[in-house]
Amino acid sequence: MKLLRSKPRHPPFVGFADFYFLGSLNLVMPQTAPWYQDAIIYQVHARTFYDSNGDGVGDFRGLAQKLDYLQDLGITAIWLMPFFPSPLRDDGYDIADYRSVHRNYGTLEDFKSFLDAAHQRGIRVIIEMVLNHTSDQHPWFQESRSSRDNPKRDWYVWSETDTRYRGVRIIFLDTELSNWAWDPVSKEYYWHRFFSHQPDLNYDNPAVREEMWNVMKFWLDMGVDGFRLDAVPYLVEREGTSCENLPETHAVLKELRAKLDQQFPGKMLLAEANQWPADLRPYFGNGDEFHMAFHFPLMPRMFMGLKLEDRKPITEILQQTPAIPDGCQWCLFLRNHDELTLEMVTDMERDYMYDEYARDKNMRLNLGIRRRLAPLLDNDRRRIELMNGMLMSLPGTPIIYYGDEIGMGDNVNLGDRNGVRTPMQWDGGWNGGFSAADPESLYSPLMLNPVYGFQAVNVHSQKRFEHSLLSWMKRIIKVRKSAPVFGSGSIEFLYPANHRVLAYIRQLGNETVLIVNNLSSAAQAVELDLKRYKGNILIEMFGRNIFPRIGDLPYLLTLGSYQFYWFRLRRI
Ligand code: NOJ
Repeated sequence: MKLLRSKPRHPPFVGFADFYFLGSLNLVMPQTAPWYQDAIIYQVHARTFYDSNGDGVGDFRGLAQKLDYLQDLGITAIWLMPFFPSPLRDDGYDIADYRSVHRNYGTLEDFKSFLDAAHQRGIRVIIEMVLNHTSDQHPWFQESRSSRDNPKRDWYVWSETDTRYRGVRIIFLDTELSNWAWDPVSKEYYWHRFFSHQPDLNYDNPAVREEMWNVMKFWLDMGVDGFRLDAVPYLVEREGTSCENLPETHAVLKELRAKLDQQFPGKMLLAEANQWPADLRPYFGNGDEFHMAFHFPLMPRMFMGLKLEDRKPITEILQQTPAIPDGCQWCLFLRNHDELTLEMVTDMERDYMYDEYARDKNMRLNLGIRRRLAPLLDNDRRRIELMNGMLMSLPGTPIIYYGDEIGMGDNVNLGDRNGVRTPMQWDGGWNGGFSAADPESLYSPLMLNPVYGFQAVNVHSQKRFEHSLLSWMKRIIKVRKSAPVFGSGSIEFLYPANHRVLAYIRQLGNETVLIVNNLSSAAQAVELDLKRYKGNILIEMFGRNIFPRIGDLPYLLTLGSYQFYWFRLRRI
């Protein structure tokens, strides 16, 4: 038995108390989990969602107009990708001013109105904060490079040679040859872990640490609910190390967290640390660093398990995942705005993933696969449902990438990761309902092909049908929200002889849920050892129908191709 959380429930942290009903039985229990543990997060970029002024680019006014849609979908938080002034050479992850809004997306006032409108609907807003680097267009860097004795010189990492920190891996393998770039202005090299136009800030400099906290404070004062902190493993460099996950980096992050707790209790920090479980664990500290972290190693193994029709990749990685402190939470995701990263798999596993999911070399980027969920799963509705079912029932807070709730496709002919960042498809009309602009002036071409194009895949048509993917996603979100056990319960895997079946028990207080997933394309029978629960009946959570009582014999279930069940256990 493996518990991923040291205790099933922690004492009230900053949380709020309210009440929930347990299915049709109307058991009322107090609930005190912090908001992010029970959240359903929707990841979106203002530019991709809805264009309110017809200039071809989505904006905050447009996003605000679509909040009804998001509320109806059932999500409880939005994670916004970077919307700050930027030359947009890395879609905004190259920030040129941390305290404003890119004019393409509107004004600061538009952002505030959007934030208020989201809050009025009970939707929290998590924004992106890129701590590690800025754009080379940022005035800090412009000053820093202007001369070697400029007061801002020490805000970035400079060197006379490009041989320091030798051996540190390059992340953007397809475009960068070195982590050092030559600056012809001040005639020294500067350090960058990503694109060469993204110089790394120098976190050994207290002035940088203080300024970055002031930036965060600026947005917290405005009312944002949390931050996704980008690229956190790389903040500090030390000779002779990998320059990743250093104790000095953790110290910087703990300092930020202490300030956050002191001045803004209830706000949340989410770590983007693409690392192995053992290296990820320290980002939670003793509950004094991050509240949440993406579970990067799990995600590719869900795809692997599905392709292999075997639960092992999933159970193995979750067994290797250490327990996390009370009040902390994993963030689970299937896809996001980047390539499906294969950094946290072995070389053999990577080859397998490439062979199975990216045969066409054009689909590969850096160490990953630049495709969306539906095309990765051959547009197979059963597999899309199964993967979402696991996303919503494994321990953690799920994140849905915009457009995946309707099964949008990708365009691998667009450069970099732009193929998974095409405009949201609202209807079958002009520009898919995204913008009134001329199609030629959109920030990105829409999907046009007969399978994934906006005329085939869009919100309007899926809203009309009870059995569309969108309607199904609404339903699964609702069912997940009806049971806090998913957000903060413990997990225990069952190991039936049939290894094509992934089964686990989630438990919180007196609530127990059994989840059974068939990872195979063929029907399967499975016998589950549930003797501990003898006498309980099973209530299927989507239809609320009763399944036979657990007796002395192993519990027999049959599952169709890629089918899954969620059952509540009840002693009646
Ligand atoms: C991680 C982000 O997810 C990615 O989109 C970006 O390019 C890099 N960090 C650099 O900021």
